Amino acid sequence: MAFQEQALIFLVFVFGLLVYRWASHRRRAGGLPYPPGPKGDPIIGNLRQLPDGKKEPVHITYKKWSKIYGDVFSIESFGTRVVVLNTAHATNELLEKRGNIYSDRNPGVIRRLSTDHHFPSMDYNEEFRTYRKVVNAAFNPTAVKDYHDIQEQETYECLEHLLESPDQWFFHMRRAAGSIILRVTYDHKVTSNDDRLVEINEAAVLNNLRSVTPTAFVVNFVPWLQYMPDWFPGTGYRPFVKEVLDGHMRNRNTPWVELKERMAKGAIKPCYASRLLEMKGQITGSDDEEYIIKASAGILYSAAVDTTLGTMASFVLAMLLYPECQKKLQVEIDSVVGKDRLPTFADEDRLPYVRYCVLETLRWMPVVPLGLSHASTQDDIYEGMFIPKGSIIVANQWAILHDESMYPEPMKFWPERWDGRFPQARDSRLYAFGFNRRMCPGRHLAYRSVFIMAANLVSAFTLMPDEKSPLPENFSLSAGQTFKCQFAVRSPEKAALVRSTASTIDSN
Ligand code: HEM
Repeated sequence: MAFQEQALIFLVFVFGLLVYRWASHRRRAGGLPYPPGPKGDPIIGNLRQLPDGKKEPVHITYKKWSKIYGDVFSIESFGTRVVVLNTAHATNELLEKRGNIYSDRNPGVIRRLSTDHHFPSMDYNEEFRTYRKVVNAAFNPTAVKDYHDIQEQETYECLEHLLESPDQWFFHMRRAAGSIILRVTYDHKVTSNDDRLVEINEAAVLNNLRSVTPTAFVVNFVPWLQYMPDWFPGTGYRPFVKEVLDGHMRNRNTPWVELKERMAKGAIKPCYASRLLEMKGQITGSDDEEYIIKASAGILYSAAVDTTLGTMASFVLAMLLYPECQKKLQVEIDSVVGKDRLPTFADEDRLPYVRYCVLETLRWMPVVPLGLSHASTQDDIYEGMFIPKGSIIVANQWAILHDESMYPEPMKFWPERWDGRFPQARDSRLYAFGFNRRMCPGRHLAYRSVFIMAANLVSAFTLMPDEKSPLPENFSLSAGQTFKCQFAVRSPEKAALVRSTASTIDSN
């Protein structure tokens, strides 16, 4: 394209933008203001201020901005408005009470181009509701009890791997989290840390997260960039979009082929995909039922693994930084479970301190601090502020879970806060797993995976810092962070118990 043509396109765009701004200004009900925010530049708005997370995590920047501009503030660029909610009150009023108009996904170009029948990225439409119904049926509180055996077995095997190579703790836990969801979904047991399905999925996980983060790419704010040639600044996202799409397809197709082969041979135990295939014809009655099953199964690993693993790793970090909590856990578990066996789900009701520690982990270091952004489908007014249709809504889950009015001394890992002494402390799961119609459908499975892993880890090992490596203050799995630590088995008898428990389970 010649330079003159591009200059013309640019001028047309600027003109269009000015007309749009004038029209949207008029549209604002009664001239009500938008939620306040940092002052931007003419035309490009807050483009230069969009936090990139390099200096500090974005949720921290947003929390600081909320002190300056208010609990609900907004940033805008080229007509795209991001409204950031920093309190439980605001998420309750908007995402919960007005969930019917706040449950779309962000309308960014990257999200739109890089997803195909990808249910977490779908808008709140008929197709989404079908997928959600199918997934909910397999992961509701009653259904997840069927997965207890799998969760216990994978936990015991993980303990055995930790005995053999404790320095590889992170990979052993990743394998456990991966094997739980792959067994639940496809009856695929992970037998090594470099399992093919795990590798295929892992490659896609971080890309998925980036693809739905509205501020990660300028093109989400400047949609006309998608029509510019490859050399034009801001168009470097294209290979990324292709990579994300290829990742989705691999996640969907590779395990599916294996599943179908095993089903044909009758060599499969009932799992999410096989059960649904057997119900074919009764789900939607439409021709694309099999594709719905396949595509919904294909997203479960990427939604489940890093989130569960990140929470387990946060629990490990808490045990290293707060050894007194670890001691208290060990005392509780030893007295309830005794020394001759390892904890199971049957012990759950008698292990309140384990429960407090898991709730506190989800609060103290939420793995998805800004959640997955929602989008509004109608103009709305909130506390005298105008929120235009199509706004991207970001719930700062970290800010809510560190709100002093609900959680005194929020930076401290303090499991006792859950023993009833603070009636204002709302269950951390109400925020860490997102909101209303988009709330995480895997939350019951996730909570139970972390619970059983937490109880067993400290039952078998004492977790200690590695003397030569400092511990991180803030831990973020999405930033590719991990840390070193020691897993010292508590006694030779415990080591023998771990080995005998892991070897007697029938895991296949
Ligand atoms: C500790 C572990 C986990 C955490 C902290 C977590 C957190 C979240 C959050 C914050 C969201 C976005 C909610 C919103 O938009 O308001 C979400 C969505 C989702 N999660 Fe999880 N999750 C976890 C584990 C899992 C597991 C184990 C599964 C699968 C079994 C899963 C499946 C999904 C799916 C499919 C969505 C998309 C829902 C939608 O778009 O409607 N998650 N999760």
